[in-house]
Amino acid sequence: MKYRVLVSDPLAEEGIDILKEFCDVDVKTGLTEDQLVAIIGDYDALLVRSGTEVTARVIDAGTKLKFIGRAGAGVDNIDTEAATRRGIIVANAPEGNTLAATEHTMAMMLSLARNIPQATASLKKGEWKRSKFMGVELNDKVLGIIGFGRIGREVAKRAQAMEMKCIAYDPFITKERAASLGVEMVPIEELFRRADVITVHTPLIKETRHLINAKSIATMKDGVRLINCARGGIIDEAALVDAIKSGKVAGAALDVFENEPPTDSPLLELDKVIVTPHLGASTVEAQKNVAISVANQCISVLSGGAAKYV
Ligand code: NAD
Ligand code: MLT
Repeated sequence: MKYRVLVSDPLAEEGIDILKEFCDVDVKTGLTEDQLVAIIGDYDALLVRSGTEVTARVIDAGTKLKFIGRAGAGVDNIDTEAATRRGIIVANAPEGNTLAATEHTMAMMLSLARNIPQATASLKKGEWKRSKFMGVELNDKVLGIIGFGRIGREVAKRAQAMEMKCIAYDPFITKERAASLGVEMVPIEELFRRADVITVHTPLIKETRHLINAKSIATMKDGVRLINCARGGIIDEAALVDAIKSGKVAGAALDVFENEPPTDSPLLELDKVIVTPHLGASTVEAQKNVAISVANQCISVLSGGAAKYV
């Protein structure tokens, strides 16, 4: 009998095609937790992006589940402890969307520096306000990178091409490794003090939740610009709203939010905050990469082999 796989978030066709060669595949997106709990018992594997919350309830109802695959990097929407307790393998696809998220970060940084979304909206309303949208150059500015992993490192390479000075904080990366990429590792307090632009590229874990908060913002340069294309919750949104209103923070670019979608968030009312709806990994190339990676790992595990990124 063929294994049954449930895909509960949109997954690129290339991944579905691989799965279909070996398994029966159902694509059912937009399910509530109750709906997922009701059907998950029929499946051997579950594949998700960030939309599905794979809670302990879902995992416990998945009595046949052997594999949960995350087509992307962050596994914060999966209760990995509950899965481990049940012996279910959880794997992600952390490399496939690195460049997409990197390029999105660069686009956000340039848009923030030159007020591109605000100027576009203004011109489309029939205005011609050149002085209102005076920007700043990134050349020679200090970029503080918090989290010097895959995306942090790729961002550094591109920022250096624009002649920014890159400093980074990451407790798990050596000074030597960073220096080989032309980046200076500094304590986080120093990064807060020196950076003109700060971009976060860590996972959302206990240690990084509200890493940027009212207290840390107070130690930053006046007019600092903040970017979060990693995970909502790394920046304390309430503190950010206050800091933008006071002028301490000159602008922020956010792709991710504490609650997604961020309905009724005061951030959405601030001109100096530019936003995208969690688009970091949304390129044709990245979606194909992560779908193929997670589909191959799923088949490997179902046929008794190993997953590459557990
Ligand atoms: P990665 O694992 O390669 O890098 C994360 C880095 O954070 C690691 O080097 C780790 O040592 C560091 N880190 C861990 N704890 C830290 C702490 N307390 N302080 C500072 N650094 C710490 O991950 P990545 O692929 O570079 O992804 C980074 C983030 O971007 C993740 O949260 C991921 O989910 C997110 N992401 C978002 C999108 C999007 O669509 N917006 C797309 C891809 C990835
Ligand atoms: C990820 O962690 O890979 C991103 O949030 C992207 C996504 O889920 O599409």
